[in-house]
Amino acid sequence: MQEQLTIIGGGNLGKSIISGLVSSDIFNTSDITVVDKSFYNLSYVKDNLGVNISQDIITAIENVKWVILCVQPRQLEGVLNEIKDKVTKDQVFISTVTGTSIEEINQLLPDNKVIRVMPNTGAAKKLSMTCISAGKDVKEELAIVEEIFKTIGETLVIEERLMQAATVLGASGIAFFLRFLRAMIQGGIQMGFHPHEAQIIAVQTAIGAATLVAENGTHPEREIDKVTTPQGCTIEGLNEMEHQGLSSSVIKGVMASYEKINTIK
Ligand SMILES: NC(=O)c1ccc[n+]([C@@H]2O[C@H](COP(=O)([O-])OP(=O)(O)OC[C@H]3O[C@@H](n4cnc5c(N)ncnc54)[C@H](OP(=O)(O)O)[C@@H]3O)[C@@H](O)[C@H]2O)c1
Repeated sequence: MQEQLTIIGGGNLGKSIISGLVSSDIFNTSDITVVDKSFYNLSYVKDNLGVNISQDIITAIENVKWVILCVQPRQLEGVLNEIKDKVTKDQVFISTVTGTSIEEINQLLPDNKVIRVMPNTGAAKKLSMTCISAGKDVKEELAIVEEIFKTIGETLVIEERLMQAATVLGASGIAFFLRFLRAMIQGGIQMGFHPHEAQIIAVQTAIGAATLVAENGTHPEREIDKVTTPQGCTIEGLNEMEHQGLSSSVIKGVMASYEKINTIK
């Protein structure tokens, strides 16, 4: 693609997105620019990913078709105010910023197309789950944004009203699964494994379990049935976990997180 792309914010997520992009042929590396305040972030992306770097946000978005906003929510308004008089109508803004709606961005950039994305930290290993939503009249741009985020994992286009839920299930979801993983490791240690051994076993088992569902397209319970012998040890463990409220506490935790996110601005 001949068009150019600028990422404002080369932090944790920005770096992951750039590393996905440079490994694909969607943009030439020479057509990608990263703007950040931190010289450390800029020299990292320059040395390791070979893209252009800049500390001047205005010059960095000149003649650029795609702009990815990758700053913290509290920094977004400042960035938009800084650029709003310089942007041109044909520029498309892709926002990764949690909790800021397309309408809110359009209040400062009324003439621009805006697409919201919600990736997760799996992006660093090209295993992100990225939910994407867009307003009307952005069909063509939406297809390109999907292509961009497929370079760092899986994508799903959703309605914008579900973006907060996507943040809980997809982004906070990383922490929820990891807490379960930690509990499995602790169980393994109590049965006699060294912590690093328990971690190897639990991590690979988690990857196997998720891959079975992802690749077979089956419901999790179908895969559970395959390892649940009548009167065996698996059903004994599963039922004890449920008696202790496993499913209920996970659903309640997801809903508590969802209620909280709706109060955060
Ligand atoms: N990390 C994730 O997995 C994840 C997942 C989904 C969504 N998000 C969203 O993605 C956004 C970025 O998250 P992150 O974890 O990558 O944040 P981060 O590591 O803090 O990176 C943001 C970077 O942008 C720089 N910056 C801020 N204002 C700037 C400006 N005016 N000009 C140039 N650079 C500027 C910051 O510099 P300073 O630090 O010097 O201010 C920082 O290096 C957030 O809104 C977050 O909610 C993140």
